[in-house]
Amino acid sequence: MPALKEIFRKDYQAPDFWVTDVSLKFVLSPNATLVTTELKLSKNTETTSRTLVLNGTEHSQLLSLRINDTAVALDDIQYVEHDIHLKDLQDDELAVTLSNQLDPANNSALEGLYLSNKIFCSDCEPEGFRNITYYPDRPDIMAKYTVIIIADKATCPILLSNGNLVEAKDLDNGLHQAVWHDPFPKPSYLFALVAGDLGYIEDKHIRPDGSPVQLRIYAAHNEVDKCHYALGALKRAMKWDEDRFDLVCDVDQYNIVAIHDFNGGAMENKGLNIFNAKYVLANSEIATDADFETIESIIGHEYFHNWTGNRVTCRDWFQLSLQEGLTVFRDQEFTSDLRHRGLKRIDDVKMLRAYQFPEDAGRLKHPIRPESYVEMRNFYTTTVYEKGAEVVRLYQTLLGEEGFKKGLTHYLNKFDGTAATCDDFLISMAEANHEDLSGFEHWYSQAGTPRVQVAKEITENGIKLTFKQLLCSEGSNLQPQWIPIRFALIGSEDKIIYEDTFILKSWEESITLPCKETNVALSLFRDFSAPVIVDYPYTEEELMKIAFFETDYFARWEAAQRYISELIASEQTWEEKQAKFIAPFNNLLQECRQEPSFYALFFTLPDPISIQSTTAEKDLAKIWEQRGNLIQYAAKTYEAQWLEIYQSQMIGNASARDLKNSVLNYLATLPNHEVTVAKQYEAATNMTDRMAALRASVLNNHSTAKTLLTNFLEKYKAYPSVVDKWFALQVSSPYITLEVLNHLRHHGEFNSHNPNRVRSLLGALGQNKVALYQQPQLFYPWLLDNIMMIDKINPQVAARLATPFSQLDFLKQSDQDAIRNLVKAQLANQLSTNLAEQLSKSL
Ligand code: PHE
Ligand code: ZN
Repeated sequence: MPALKEIFRKDYQAPDFWVTDVSLKFVLSPNATLVTTELKLSKNTETTSRTLVLNGTEHSQLLSLRINDTAVALDDIQYVEHDIHLKDLQDDELAVTLSNQLDPANNSALEGLYLSNKIFCSDCEPEGFRNITYYPDRPDIMAKYTVIIIADKATCPILLSNGNLVEAKDLDNGLHQAVWHDPFPKPSYLFALVAGDLGYIEDKHIRPDGSPVQLRIYAAHNEVDKCHYALGALKRAMKWDEDRFDLVCDVDQYNIVAIHDFNGGAMENKGLNIFNAKYVLANSEIATDADFETIESIIGHEYFHNWTGNRVTCRDWFQLSLQEGLTVFRDQEFTSDLRHRGLKRIDDVKMLRAYQFPEDAGRLKHPIRPESYVEMRNFYTTTVYEKGAEVVRLYQTLLGEEGFKKGLTHYLNKFDGTAATCDDFLISMAEANHEDLSGFEHWYSQAGTPRVQVAKEITENGIKLTFKQLLCSEGSNLQPQWIPIRFALIGSEDKIIYEDTFILKSWEESITLPCKETNVALSLFRDFSAPVIVDYPYTEEELMKIAFFETDYFARWEAAQRYISELIASEQTWEEKQAKFIAPFNNLLQECRQEPSFYALFFTLPDPISIQSTTAEKDLAKIWEQRGNLIQYAAKTYEAQWLEIYQSQMIGNASARDLKNSVLNYLATLPNHEVTVAKQYEAATNMTDRMAALRASVLNNHSTAKTLLTNFLEKYKAYPSVVDKWFALQVSSPYITLEVLNHLRHHGEFNSHNPNRVRSLLGALGQNKVALYQQPQLFYPWLLDNIMMIDKINPQVAARLATPFSQLDFLKQSDQDAIRNLVKAQLANQLSTNLAEQLSKSL
């Protein structure tokens, strides 16, 4: 195992030298790219020492180094690990010039500069820039960049970097050159370069002052026809940020490039966003309705970073949630405003519970602002992103939309052009609103999902509610977190008779509501007003009232999910469960056509893992079986009604498809409807319907599944994101076997160098908890072996795939021990620091 060097938040120190200007010259060639770097630096007058640290890695081969006009002999250079330390520099202003050579074609880690389908492409966040050149690679150093790119004109006609194109000309020997200048000072992680044979589509956005922004999306020539949706989404994002937050695009050219081999989702490099192609390319033939929504939100997310991330960036990487939590919150609001706020909230909470809650309960748990890390790349987590967004949402819940906007505007004005901290954000919000927000601070430093216990008591003076918070964070000095609780009471006439928001600021508080009715249903955490687990002994009657008569979408959905989970976990007889389960359908089946997308969610039962983790029932096999049987029972009982709804939604929009396909999931459990599923597959005119049918066929183990899968691959071989779906679907089946896994692993379409494809196999297996938890000794070892294989190629991706090993605590002790022993054995081998950090913390 490599030595793991931990870096601590408390050790932050400002640098001795700032960089004011960077000039980079690239002479591109697949195996030998030459980089020349010129830095202008000035002394930070606030520190006394005079050391310049230039971070580097084993991948960049240093050829020369000069300080001012003096060449430094390579042998005289002092290294600490791979970093160059230049000590006792006496000048307050200095120039450093260096040159080095790169091998982009062999950069399989996809960090720094690499080749993807013959396109030169960079990926620098957080610390990839040091793979490109030696540089003080930290986000608090912000400089102006000029970039010269020289390449072969025939193979690399397009040369892109950040900012404005200031010169383009032909050179001798078939070469050409482009010069880009970015007037905005930026941290190195926002640097980007793309060069290759790309096509593009373009449009423009007109800003409020009438000036245009030129928008372009670049992709492979045969893919540019699939960029139109993304381009429209970009325009919508620009308009929305103007309308909602008065934030206007500050660059005159805004470029997006779609790249097939990409470690992350997308990257907000200043004026040159680089995207994982799967979040750009779409048309209804290859993308589902859900894919379109995801693409729109990610296009928005990267654009929104331009203010929250780029204009104001983070001082150090511990503060990552400052920009990611905030920007996720902003993209959630974008989708909510453009689409359906209630449904978006339900989707986001589902995600949070499926991924972030387990992380927060597992061995890799950390606060949204971590205290230490070994590899920062391991901290791009759902905690920093999604829980971070929930914490940002708390401010809005407390301050209202207007107050939140005031706070955000103040924050951006105050810190524009600088690198800030999470504390700066909190203080800005408080200052702008003249509010004390000190109790939010602990959300940044304490890990774990808080639990809120609620008790309801009928008293002489009204209904008394007692709220108590329990934290599961480590540490002796835990502080109560401020928890906004939106709640309502539904009275005996099925109407909301009281609603309010209570802010729980201490460990335990009570309030008495002036309410004389006694038979009321208490609806808690409406709109999921805080990322907590709620302990309240709802009665069946209360849940039913909320599910049917609440006005809050989230609360209705939540109550129904709870009702079903509790029903499955309860000790009632099978007959009682069946009867109770199907009783509400009479009404639901009548109503559902009025709000198809919402009822589609309503009809979708909580998954087995969420039932297991929210109820007392821990027997997964039993949950799985009963859940399936209930669906089948409801399908059988109301077969005619289901069919009628199914047929009524045949021609329609995305919400009709939502409802139709949720109904298909019921019908698909009946043997006589295998043919309904197969017919839908065949007749589908879009990916949403085709995929829904294929999924229903595979997940219900239909006899037709094999044929459909073969047909699907044949049809869509040319579309990588669709082939990813083909892999992931098979791997997410509860019936997955080792044989199928091995077949897929050695399939001609598998590619261990493409992160999306790797995730569609190994990532999907890590998510298939039904399979993992039922046959742990079969699947975990297979997963581990394959992660070790990927680690040799791409450590970042491998480390991310290893998170299931930090969440073993649900398993039988003997299974846990066996798997941890395997992990221990692997730690003795050669592995990357990325993977070593994740695995060793999992033990
Ligand atoms: N900053 C990117 C985002 O959240 C994520 C990312 C991190 C992409 C690192 C690439 C590399 O939008
Ligand atoms: Zn982001």
